[in-house]
Amino acid sequence: MSEKRVSFGGRMGVLLVAAGSAVGLGNIWRFPCELGQNGGGAFLLIYFICAIVIGMPIMLAEFSLGRMGQSNVVGALKNVSGSNKYKWIGYSGVLCAFLIMGFYGVVCGWTLEYVYQAVVFGFSSMTPTDLSTAFTAFSVQPVRPILWTILFLSINCAVVLLGVKNGIERSSKILMPMLLIIIIILGCRSLTLPGGMDGLKFLFKPDFSKVTSEVVLNAMGQAFFSLSLGMGCMTTYGSYIGKDINLGESVVQVTVLDSLVSLLAAIAIFPAVFSLGINPSAGPELAFITLPNVFNQIPGGYIWAILFFVLLSIAALTSTISLLEVITAFMSEEWKLSRKKAAIIGTATIISIAAFASLSLGDLSDWKIFGMSFFDLLDNVTARIIMPLTGLAISLFVAWKIEQTRLKDEITNQGTKKAAYFKAFVFILRYITPLAIIIVFINQLLSWF
Ligand code: PHE
Repeated sequence: MSEKRVSFGGRMGVLLVAAGSAVGLGNIWRFPCELGQNGGGAFLLIYFICAIVIGMPIMLAEFSLGRMGQSNVVGALKNVSGSNKYKWIGYSGVLCAFLIMGFYGVVCGWTLEYVYQAVVFGFSSMTPTDLSTAFTAFSVQPVRPILWTILFLSINCAVVLLGVKNGIERSSKILMPMLLIIIIILGCRSLTLPGGMDGLKFLFKPDFSKVTSEVVLNAMGQAFFSLSLGMGCMTTYGSYIGKDINLGESVVQVTVLDSLVSLLAAIAIFPAVFSLGINPSAGPELAFITLPNVFNQIPGGYIWAILFFVLLSIAALTSTISLLEVITAFMSEEWKLSRKKAAIIGTATIISIAAFASLSLGDLSDWKIFGMSFFDLLDNVTARIIMPLTGLAISLFVAWKIEQTRLKDEITNQGTKKAAYFKAFVFILRYITPLAIIIVFINQLLSWF
């Protein structure tokens, strides 16, 4: 650790980069899809509870661990504990990064196809049924989606190679606010569609009779996924956060921003879903068929659609950058590869996984593992199992293995910042967060018998 680690530029830089990782397809594509399949309002409420009780403490734990350890997720655990005993937690995070990228990369490819479609054809002549047929026809093709995925992942690799500061930080700065503006415009239009209010009811009138242990597990998984937790991403980014940044403040800002984008995406999507008579539990295609329909109802929809899909691809990119950074930092620091080699080997491996994930929706759709396609398996195993368990391990490590005075020094920037919440934070991280995760799991296990 002789040379000084690069750090993100200032508070705004940290916020944008961490929020860039958090805000992505998880908010605009996965969140509405989960919400639709898990009954609406009640899921929304449980999601927010998970984000606050489980997500925020773990994010602070990951930031602190990363900044203290000044290294990739495996190295940070080693540096902070002074032993190799806890490295497995980091390995599980790195494995998770590969698996997430395996299906996320496929959806990233879809966003590029939609940029292309929006530019070349526009969606204006298409009815809701056309849009849904077109999506399915595209996503089951063997070659085309994979080519888009390869293009996307290559761009991703190039940005990571430009380095933490130039590549990652710069790309987040202007684009995030722009995306927010478009989602707000979409939301306004969607709400004013005939019958749109039913969508709002679906979102904000929780029907608790629909809550099962599965719904709770899904909400928790979504919180981990959306906040980029439980796989070392925020730990790796934590290692690039300057020593003068108030970590607690950054956690609150990232969580609020991420939740806001998810909520706005849901407000843009569900009123339109009800107005157009689309099934709210349609699954992964939900965002891709609903939003083009909303653009068709907006003056200048052609341009808005292009802008939206471009920004969506960029939001996805700032998330995939953070995922590849976990892998690149790990391989270059632990295996002593150059960053270039690490990023390229990482990307090639991800492309191979993603090719199978994409094919599992089409030509290989008969191939089922535990009754799921490979694509769904990657999604489910990461969000519902690996991330919560790795998150649990990280929170136990930070809360029980790091001396409290040392942790406090890290969180208060050696006593220069106030952190009145410190005691409460340690208590929550020691008892409440782990217990909450364990209860959700036990409940789910019991429901199988
Ligand atoms: N949080 C990202 C999203 O919502 C996905 C992600 C998961 C990114 C894990 C990094 C790590 O799209």
